[in-house]
Amino acid sequence: MNGFTLKEGMLLGTASAATQIEGGETDHSWLDWAHRGFIADGSTPARADGHYRRWQEDDALMETLGLQIARIGVEWARVEPKEGEYDEEALAHYVREVEWFNDHGIRPLVTLHHFTNPMWFERKGAFEKRENIADFLRFVDKMVRVFGARVNEYITINEPNVYAANGYYFGIWPPGERSLFKTIHVMNVLAEAHIDAYGLIHVLQKQMGVTGTRVSYANHVRVFAPKDPQNILHRFFARLTERFFQGSLSKTMGTGKPSFPIRNFGRAPHGLYCDFIAVNYYTRSTVAGFGDGVRQGVPVNDMGWEIYPQGIVECAQKLYAIHPLPVYITENGTCDNRDEFRCRYLYDHLQALCTCGLPVERYYHWCFTDNFEWTAGESARFGLVHVDYETQQRAVKRSGLFYRDIIAAGGVTEEMYQEYVEHQQYRNNG
Ligand code: FCB
Repeated sequence: MNGFTLKEGMLLGTASAATQIEGGETDHSWLDWAHRGFIADGSTPARADGHYRRWQEDDALMETLGLQIARIGVEWARVEPKEGEYDEEALAHYVREVEWFNDHGIRPLVTLHHFTNPMWFERKGAFEKRENIADFLRFVDKMVRVFGARVNEYITINEPNVYAANGYYFGIWPPGERSLFKTIHVMNVLAEAHIDAYGLIHVLQKQMGVTGTRVSYANHVRVFAPKDPQNILHRFFARLTERFFQGSLSKTMGTGKPSFPIRNFGRAPHGLYCDFIAVNYYTRSTVAGFGDGVRQGVPVNDMGWEIYPQGIVECAQKLYAIHPLPVYITENGTCDNRDEFRCRYLYDHLQALCTCGLPVERYYHWCFTDNFEWTAGESARFGLVHVDYETQQRAVKRSGLFYRDIIAAGGVTEEMYQEYVEHQQYRNNG
């Protein structure tokens, strides 16, 4: 018998980030990066899905498909285009959108920082400088006050490890630096920024009489496996890479207790700095040295990332061991440009989650619509809804219909399995 039932009370929806869907010539680090020629297909976030203007069409489509929750991002550079100057129209825009969600029974979770910085912040050194945390907190303060009781769930910072590693170690994202020292320092500053923002949001919501506040940051977590499990060096590097990439930050950001290689973290008392475990999970990395890779002969997506469904539970379990809190899968999805295996991917990951012992309360699929996938630009499609970038036409994919049916049925029945999943196969990498 195939199929599964969703966990009791578990809610399903999608996640997105402002830069990846909104479009517009907003003066931020990713438009700048695109203008400097670093996007593989030459596209820029100025086009994307035009969601900033088409938000009602997109959000109404979410409602049609029965989505229960939506993780959305705010573009800091739109809200605060110049240091200390706020754009009232942009603020009103985001308020309108979350109001719409609340009125239509879709619960919003708002991400405050998702990789992109306003250029004025980038130019002054962004999170390389501890004193710049004050700028981020001013923005957080503004948003939380403006949203008031309309939002009581926040992600402070999305994937601080990916931001730091890609921007400061690999040099492939803004600002294009290559320094292990800086990478670790930026991780430090991000950890402080999160902990300060966590406290601030709670204080503000309390002052405003808002209840049920839940705040966290989104961990990008992978399984790190030794290329040759018998090789002691491979095993050592798998552990070391995991610690540098995610383990150390997860502990520090969640508890305020510095964990090597994060060292000079001195301000916050040790405690608990998240109200739920936020898991962004995509893949497993195979390690033979300091870095990551993909094993041969395994199922992969269109970007070559290994598809390893059980890893979503393994990663959530590791975080749960640090602090046993409700689990939100804040991102999970795959690049499948022709929508040939996304139904199977959805099935396998949701089944793993629904049959594990963890308290999984939310699942936000990445992403609702195809979107601007950072340096891969428009060439990597992660959506449940297809976007024709030229005409901006939306078309629900088969996987979008499957998702709708999962929500309606509270799981996957044998009939649904046969209709959507049975005939789909993953492709192996050689
Ligand atoms: C995650 C990012 C998200 C999206 C997916 C595919 O690492 O948080 O913005 O690009 O990967």
